[in-house]
Amino acid sequence: MTLPNRRRFLKASLQGLAVASLGQWSAPRAGETFTPLRDLAASKGIAFGFAVDPSRIRADVAYRDVVAKQANLLVPENALKWAEVHPDPDRYVFGPVDDLVAFARDHGQRTRGHTLCWHRAMPDWLGQVGRDRAEAVLTAHIRTVVGRYRGRMMSWDVVNEAIEPNDGQGGGLRDSFWYRMLGPRYLDIAYAAAHDADPQAVLCYNDYGLEADSPWSERKRGAVLDMLRGLRRRNVPVQAIGLQSHLRLGEAQRIGPGLTRFIHAARDMGLAVYVTELDVDDSAFDGRGDRDGAVADTYKRYLDLVLGTGAVSAVLTWGVWDPDTPHRIGATPQGAFAQRPLVFGREGALKPASWVVAHCLERALRVRTFGT
Ligand code: XIL
Repeated sequence: MTLPNRRRFLKASLQGLAVASLGQWSAPRAGETFTPLRDLAASKGIAFGFAVDPSRIRADVAYRDVVAKQANLLVPENALKWAEVHPDPDRYVFGPVDDLVAFARDHGQRTRGHTLCWHRAMPDWLGQVGRDRAEAVLTAHIRTVVGRYRGRMMSWDVVNEAIEPNDGQGGGLRDSFWYRMLGPRYLDIAYAAAHDADPQAVLCYNDYGLEADSPWSERKRGAVLDMLRGLRRRNVPVQAIGLQSHLRLGEAQRIGPGLTRFIHAARDMGLAVYVTELDVDDSAFDGRGDRDGAVADTYKRYLDLVLGTGAVSAVLTWGVWDPDTPHRIGATPQGAFAQRPLVFGREGALKPASWVVAHCLERALRVRTFGT
């Protein structure tokens, strides 16, 4: 090798080394130095987990490993929604969730169910059901689905997103299919049916938009609390509130006393409080500064606040790794795409949010109500 050639060779090798080590540096896997989030959470009496896609658990080894290692609570993202689990009047599709429940059992994880009564993910045939049959159809669906997993689901999102004050209905109820069919008592019917089918499961009410200190969220929180108080007064078995927590970049700055007051009010009613669908939509990132750092900061501010109440006994992110869903996470598939909204990078790569969430769990107050 002539001298210039050798120099070129050396330079190329060094560049190769730099690229290789940079590659390794920028995408380390959650290995030995990173204590699994499930362990950090469990030491505080908190469950940590993900919304998962059962078919990816079957097909993707890396996905399976990250889920097994980091989570002790799993929820199927879509597989228990009405359109998926009960696509035709006489047909239920339980295979994917059966697999998920078996996987969880094998890995010492618990599962939760999502969701039994929602105005979205409704199969077409449901639209043909009239007022005369609505109660029987809703009850049979809930009894069948909850009954199938009796003793297996630690909790169920029974009713999802029932409050929309802008719809102008009494109590701020959403003008949804079930509301139009059955009136406000559809909630009582749904919770009673779930309780009959699995008296041990913690029955949860789950909603979004409860987080910010905005007038709209404040109205929504008020309506949710009024609804929950009404249910409890009528002895309807609702035992937990799910804060979906679909956050946007920087939004945690707008989250504060309103949410803390809400969480304490829920606790005072004897409800468990879960963070059910956490993610940080980063599609509004303006290109200035550090995208991953900004996402991590939003996680930190939010988790410090909610875990600082000592009342939140479960935290689940809506997906396992970035980007997981090719649209704004948890929202309708329009507008800009979220790119790095979750706590882990692709294939479980560590990113700033991973360390920040670990740190928040380490600092969390101990929760006394593990199991609810
Ligand atoms: C979303 C899923 O993530 C998407 O894959 C699906 O297309 C639509 O539903 N609130 C909820 C979740 O309770 O079930 C939603 O999940 C996000 C908003």
